[in-house]
Amino acid sequence: MSKWFYMNLVLLLMAIWQVVKPFSFPIFSLPILFGLIGFLLFLFNWTRNAVFSTIRNVPERKTKIKLANLSKKVMPYHRWIGTAALVFILLHAVFVLHWYSFSFQNMKMLAGLLAFVNLILMVLTGWWRLVKPTGRMRQIHLRLGISLFFIISLHLLL
Ligand code: HEM
Repeated sequence: MSKWFYMNLVLLLMAIWQVVKPFSFPIFSLPILFGLIGFLLFLFNWTRNAVFSTIRNVPERKTKIKLANLSKKVMPYHRWIGTAALVFILLHAVFVLHWYSFSFQNMKMLAGLLAFVNLILMVLTGWWRLVKPTGRMRQIHLRLGISLFFIISLHLLL
């Protein structure tokens, strides 16, 4: 199994922990609810990277085929899931800004803003690949995914 599966699992546990921490659980505030939904949609799409990475590294042909077929089934929804993640994160940001108002001193907000810009670029490059599928755009989309993974980790940790 690819190291990305384990990294994704750690990130998922981190997000769940932040959300169910005694102070906020079980009352979900709207910003947290939308943030969690957007996060889960992003992670679902990002798991595709872990699946591809496993396909490349696993020696058994049968497993490769099984994973490739699974990935193919989800592909028609990939762009829409990414777009939905952006919509939920936009709602997350709107509610956060409405409830707390923006501050450059708040590192969690800064990391969130950075993640938001990164997510916009990810969605744009994802749709752009439908118009003009080049290897360079694939690389950019992948690199944006890696940076988004780490910025979201920071956002959740802060
Ligand atoms: C890809 C973008 C983003 C993702 C995936 C995301 C995800 C999350 C999640 C899952 C939480 C709940 C867990 C926690 O408290 O750490 C959260 C909280 C928070 N996020 Fe985001 N977020 C994003 C963007 C943003 C943006 C753009 C802002 C602000 C401009 C922001 C500000 C905050 C704040 C202030 C909290 C704490 C809310 C509270 O405790 O009531 N986030 N985010």
